[in-house]
Amino acid sequence: MKHIDIKEIVENKKKFIGKSVTVCGWVRTSRDSKTVAFVELNDGTMLKHMQIVFDKEKIDNCAAALPLCTSLKITGKVVKAANNPENVEINADTVEVLGECPPEYPIQKKPHSLEFLRTIPHLRMRTNTFSAMFRIRNVLTEAIHKYYLDRNYVYAHTPIITGSDCEGAGEGFKVTTIGYSNKFKTEEEYHANDFFSKSAGLTVSGQLEGEMMAMAFGKIYTFGPTFRAENSNTSRHAAEFWMNEPEVAFCDIDGLIEIAEEFIKFITKFVLDKCKDELAFFERFYEKGLIEKLTGIVEKDFARVDYTEAIEILKKCSKAKEFQYPVEWGCDLQTEHERYLTEEHFAKPCFVVNYPKAIKSFYMKQNDDGKTVAATDLLVPGVGEIIGGSEREANYEKLKNEIVARGMNLSDYEQYLDLRKYGSVPHAGFGLGLERMLMYITGIGNIRDTAIFPRARNELR
Ligand code: 4AD
Repeated sequence: MKHIDIKEIVENKKKFIGKSVTVCGWVRTSRDSKTVAFVELNDGTMLKHMQIVFDKEKIDNCAAALPLCTSLKITGKVVKAANNPENVEINADTVEVLGECPPEYPIQKKPHSLEFLRTIPHLRMRTNTFSAMFRIRNVLTEAIHKYYLDRNYVYAHTPIITGSDCEGAGEGFKVTTIGYSNKFKTEEEYHANDFFSKSAGLTVSGQLEGEMMAMAFGKIYTFGPTFRAENSNTSRHAAEFWMNEPEVAFCDIDGLIEIAEEFIKFITKFVLDKCKDELAFFERFYEKGLIEKLTGIVEKDFARVDYTEAIEILKKCSKAKEFQYPVEWGCDLQTEHERYLTEEHFAKPCFVVNYPKAIKSFYMKQNDDGKTVAATDLLVPGVGEIIGGSEREANYEKLKNEIVARGMNLSDYEQYLDLRKYGSVPHAGFGLGLERMLMYITGIGNIRDTAIFPRARNELR
């Protein structure tokens, strides 16, 4: 079906004025008067719609206002818009109705709540909010690839089915083709009879495989679906989300923090430059001051604080008594603590560094104090943690002892330990949650509204 993208016309107005074009799309609004009718047509190539003007004497198959989401093929002349000569519109010569849309179509002109739209995930991408969201998601993905590929990183596709729980938090989904039954005497026997002859699950992180690639390619990144069966039914936790994990050889924790800051600035600027209409939309309807906030990210330095100092700040702050979870050295920072630090104390993105060993994963580099590890989380206002990363323990004995001390199965980590045997080097990496970054960039408050088909606790449509 030969036709032209509306975006092409809008971006090259001068070239098209006076020319006849054919466009296809869906009716987003429609109004009718005695002699002319107007339709706002959207073909999906941009957030904005194209106004189509029908002279009712000429076009007799569109007598009444067209129902929303009717699909049309229109041929007509591109002209300067009557109400704004900076814009263009199309005076229709012929209109073909490709698909009718009955009045029970659930998305009508009135504003719908995000909660309601979550019940119709197959249609919600037709609304302005989700059109803007998934366009930004697309551009953000492009920015992530561009950052790494321009800097000699190799994109590594790490497996989705894995035999190990990287984070050791036991939040994995099982992969099985047989149900557990009494016929198996032990769990081992059950696993031995399953598809892989061992226990398998969906990946919670591509990091361990990423480290293996980094020991050959120096700088790699993974970017793909990640799964966590977290029981927390919060607005920030998804069961399926996309994680981007760079892994960098010959890099320590300070080098990693520099990379993370440069990376967040780069991808934010990329979206600021390429998604002006979409960000203006979110600024108008979801977060006042959004564009200024994002510009600040690009222009201002992030804060950095040691975990130990952060605990002191939290204990002494005016809100200390109001915290639901008490603060003591050794505790994991809760959302309320993270948000106080980044929103009120620093009022900007903030890296917390050197966490207690006991609350972090086995693979993190043990600091000389014997108590902390070289780990960092990046906290941002409104969301909390968007990045978690660390320098890795590169010493064979230390890593092996840690695996044993945590009661983990040494044989599951033999290959991972081999990396420390054969030419071990200091190395570091982090994970960015794509959906958390999207919450931050758009000001949308629930992670379920950043994924095309969200999967979260009790959410699988
Ligand atoms: O801090 P996390 O658990 O770190 C890792 O998985 C490391 N293996 C990363 C690495 O060093 N290569 O997770 C990293 C990020 C979090 O900061 C958050 O943005 C996101 O992944 N994330 C989630 N996003 C949505 N829903 C969840 N349930 C998430 N869990 C983590």
